[in-house]
Amino acid sequence: MEPGLIQRYRAFLPVTDRTPVISLGEGSTPLLRARALEAWLGCRAEVYLKVEGANPSGSFKDRGMTVALSKAVEDGARAVICASTGNTSASAAAYAAAAGCAAFVLVPQGKVALGKLSQAVAHGATVLEVQGNFDDALKLVKDVAATHPVALVNSINPYRIEGQKTGAFEVCDQLGDAPDLLSIPVGNAGNITAYWRGFQEYRAAARARRLPRLLGWQAEGAAPLVLGHPVKNPRTIASAIRIGNPASWQSAVAAAGESGGAIGAVSDAEILEAYAEIPRREGIFCEPASAAAVAGLRKFHREEGLPAGSRVVCVLTGHGLKDADRALSLAPRPAAVPCTLEAVAAALRLS
Ligand code: F0G
Repeated sequence: MEPGLIQRYRAFLPVTDRTPVISLGEGSTPLLRARALEAWLGCRAEVYLKVEGANPSGSFKDRGMTVALSKAVEDGARAVICASTGNTSASAAAYAAAAGCAAFVLVPQGKVALGKLSQAVAHGATVLEVQGNFDDALKLVKDVAATHPVALVNSINPYRIEGQKTGAFEVCDQLGDAPDLLSIPVGNAGNITAYWRGFQEYRAAARARRLPRLLGWQAEGAAPLVLGHPVKNPRTIASAIRIGNPASWQSAVAAAGESGGAIGAVSDAEILEAYAEIPRREGIFCEPASAAAVAGLRKFHREEGLPAGSRVVCVLTGHGLKDADRALSLAPRPAAVPCTLEAVAAALRLS
């Protein structure tokens, strides 16, 4: 059996021999060279995809959730709660099920991709659709956790960030060093915070020789970190990052700044273009929010130019099946054909 993250990176994580390990075998996700995307970008850098959709619940959230649930159980929690644009709730529900805990999930009504909702329900979480956005839901779960015996497992829970930093460790282990550049989507801003911490800790431990520049990407209609103020009604087709007031605001801005990188914005049109190209060119299907990392890199290359030979990693944060409706809505419906060889051959233009 592949060991989970707590086993692999125990020395870097806030666990002890007394911590019960709640794991679903997360981490160890592929890092793939993306030559066909390099051609699409028109760059001479080496571009790699970190395929986080390969985690057990289909997103990077599992890295944080294995630590958050393990610590919650160690601390005696019987129930966990989170607000979510979908992936956090899917992951929390899965790890809570594995831990034998109850899970309570608050999502923005009508704004969560169906695959994610189906996961939370299948794992037995109690799901509430809040008549508001993610930011409203986050405020509510903070209030609930402050007044009731329920452990909060959003990324304001420090154990989430601790677990998620292992994404940076793996990138370094897979490349043999930190990349020159890491491109990553930004929503509630926990993951960019976690990656920066991970790269710093790995270099301090002499497991990497350098630090990457971090490029974080928000959607234009939900870009508080770019605008410098919260966005009251965030809008984007990338529902996972439809967030107007990120919890890890300061640490994300600090991470991008200290690394010599930046947080920028990409339009929904740019996101959808990358979302279409990645699966066609590379055989990797990610959700729209994840495609923002590639859309952003394209924009960066156009505006500033990626140095030839530099190594760039795009973090594809979630699996495309999470939001299957989106892919189907962008493609023509499959043609219906009679059950004959002639009809099939004709429809495939083989005859
Ligand atoms: N990509 C995906 C697929 C996500 O689900 C999220 C966040 C992000 C990127 C952004 O990461 O919040 O650490 O900056 N999803 C959260 C959720 C908000 O509730 O599932 P972040």
